This record gives sequence, C-alpha cells and structure tokens, in this order.
Amino acid sequence: MRQDFVPFELERVMSIWEHRVQYNLSESGVKPLTLRELFQDDPRQWDLLLDTELNYPQTNGIPELRERIAALYPGASPDNVVVTSGAAQANFTAVLTTLDPGDEIVVMLPNYMQIWGVAKNYGVQIRSFPLRPELGWGFDPDDLRRAVTNSTRLIAVCNPNNPTGHIMSAEEMEAVVQAADRVGAWILADEVYAGAEHWTDEVTPSFWGRYPRTLAIGSLSKAYALPGLRLGWVVAPADTADEIWARQDYITICPTMLGNRLAAYALSPEVRPRILARTREYVRRGYANFERWCTSHADLFSLTRPQAAAIAFVRYHRDINSTELVNRLIHEQQTYVVPGDHFGMDHYLRISYGLPESYVNEGLNRLLKVLTNND
Ligand SMILES: Cc1ncc(COP(=O)(O)O)c(C=O)c1O
Repeated sequence: MRQDFVPFELERVMSIWEHRVQYNLSESGVKPLTLRELFQDDPRQWDLLLDTELNYPQTNGIPELRERIAALYPGASPDNVVVTSGAAQANFTAVLTTLDPGDEIVVMLPNYMQIWGVAKNYGVQIRSFPLRPELGWGFDPDDLRRAVTNSTRLIAVCNPNNPTGHIMSAEEMEAVVQAADRVGAWILADEVYAGAEHWTDEVTPSFWGRYPRTLAIGSLSKAYALPGLRLGWVVAPADTADEIWARQDYITICPTMLGNRLAAYALSPEVRPRILARTREYVRRGYANFERWCTSHADLFSLTRPQAAAIAFVRYHRDINSTELVNRLIHEQQTYVVPGDHFGMDHYLRISYGLPESYVNEGLNRLLKVLTNND
C-alpha cells in the first residue's frame, strides 16, 4: 500500500464530527431541503416518486436532466453534460480525464482541497497562486501569470470560492482565460456555489463560453440545498464529455435514478427560482447576523466580507493552532467549525452561518468560550 497517500482531511474530519456534535457550523451549504419542502404545492410529485422504477438511469444522466443543466450554460447542449455523483466525482473524473502523472497544474489557494489532493496522489505537480485578504480575497493577476508556465496543463479555480466566498470580477476571470490561453491549458472551474450570492440575484457567471478548453463543474449540494442527492455535473466540450463519461463507467457507472429524477425537478423553471431564493434568504440573513457577531468581537476576529456561499473565512487573533482550537471546541463545547489548517492557512476558521439563527448563535457563543478561555 502507498505510504505517502494524502487523505482528504477536510471531508474525513467533517464526516466524523458533523453528525456527532451539537452545533455543526462546518457545512458550506445552507440548511438542506426536505423532500416535503421540495414538493411544496405540488403533491402530484409524491405519486410520481412512488411510481419511479428504481432502474439504472442513462448513465451520463437522463435526457431531461441534461437538457436542464445545458440550459444553464450559454451555448451548451446535452452532449456537453455528464451527470455525476456530486461535484466531488465530477472533479475527480475531470482530472483523471485531462491529466497524466507528471503533468503540472496551477490551483488558487485557499481552495476546496480536492483537486489539490487528487493531483498530489496522482503524481501531478502543483503550483499555486494566492487569494489575498487585502484584495477582498481577490488575486493579483501577476501572481497568476507567474504561477502558470509553459508546462501547465490545467488551471483549477473555485468561483465563488470555498472557503472565502469571493466571486471573481470580470477582470479576474479574463486574467484566468488569458493565462490558460497563453499555454493552451484547461480551465477547471468549480462553480458549485453559483446561485448562493449575497447581494445580487444574478447567478455568478460561468467560465463556460469564455474559453474552449473549459470544464465547468456544478452541483445540487450547495446553492440548491440538496447535498444528500449526491448529484453533480461536468459541462465540457462534447468529445471531452464523452471521455469523462467513459471513465465514469469504471468508477460509479452512474448516479441514482432517484437523484436524476429529483434533480430534473429541482432544476425545472418552476422550481429552481424558489430553491435559489430560499438559499439566498439563508445566506443573506445568516451573514447579517454573523457580521454583527464578528463586529462585536473585533478584538478576536478579522472578517473579510464574503460575496457568496454560507461561509466566512475568518482570521482569529489568539495564539493557538487552528486544529488544536477546533479539537477543543469539539470536545469541550460539542461544536464544530473547520480549521484553517485544512486549507493550508493556520489562524483562520471557516464558519458556516446558513442555518437557523438561534442554532448559529449558540455555536458561536461556544466558540467564544473556547477562545476566551485560552489566555
Ligand atoms: C468547491 C466544492 N466543490 C465540490 C464539492 C463537493 O460537492 P458535492 O457534494 O456536489 O460532491 C464541495 C463540497 O463542499 C465544494 O465545496
């Protein structure tokens, strides 16, 4: 067995603690929908669900669902879409399809560390460029230009970003396109938080359509509050989508029939706006409450305002390592937030606020107790 395998720490630690603590402020999505909420005002859906044959769906996604996903991306057709078991599998399969061991990629940091970890374990060389708090978690295009070399095969961005909630400006997106175009690299754009914006009802634009070698990753887990469906997708040039599908045959064959059917329903023009409005309500209200709390403890925390998602990446001003702090929080206060260590940035915490206010406030109070007992 390989001794140097790099585990996906964030996901593993989350899965151990998120259902065991009393206050889980680690999730980056909002409070998940129940089936009852999803079917609200449309009781016919229950019968349709009960009569669904639990067969294999078409393995790259049922046509109705691929149509609905394609409709979200200008110029895309169902031939560009592969439906996957969550964005996690979409990212994994896209990397497996486009890279070989020894290749070089560039990732933005901090980031959801999946692509980084898959690359490490697959023998892919990693270069990076930083998001900077002093730029509101934006990046300096010169940092990107320096990171991309003639050997770069893929640039991995997360937009809106996990963990910072930053949405790239048009200039930043253009800088990524220019950098990729200069060397003919792929852009892998993980866009799972598009739709969970704080102060605009405009969904964050996709990289799809800006550059031919784009792999756009989406999911129902975050903006659509349906993580338990395990339903994601890749939008790619049609020949690459076929190649991704060919790998999927070996990995999972396909996501579930129920997932496909419910996803098509969630993305229908009648239902999608209602789900996105619910998500935005959670992130907007939740953020206002969270910001008040942070501001009233300005000696302890520095907050750079996120623009999307139900999370903030907050710097804390205490001399304690973030993993140690979170371990104490779990064991002393039965509360869990994600340590900055899981994003390679100590002295930060990723804190979720897309949940009912009283629940979030109690979790935050408990965090305060651990931080103020540290002196
Ligand atoms: C940026 C990003 N991509 C992908 C995923 C995985 O999403 P899914 O639940 O669709 O597999 C996550 C989960 O947190 C994420 O934050």
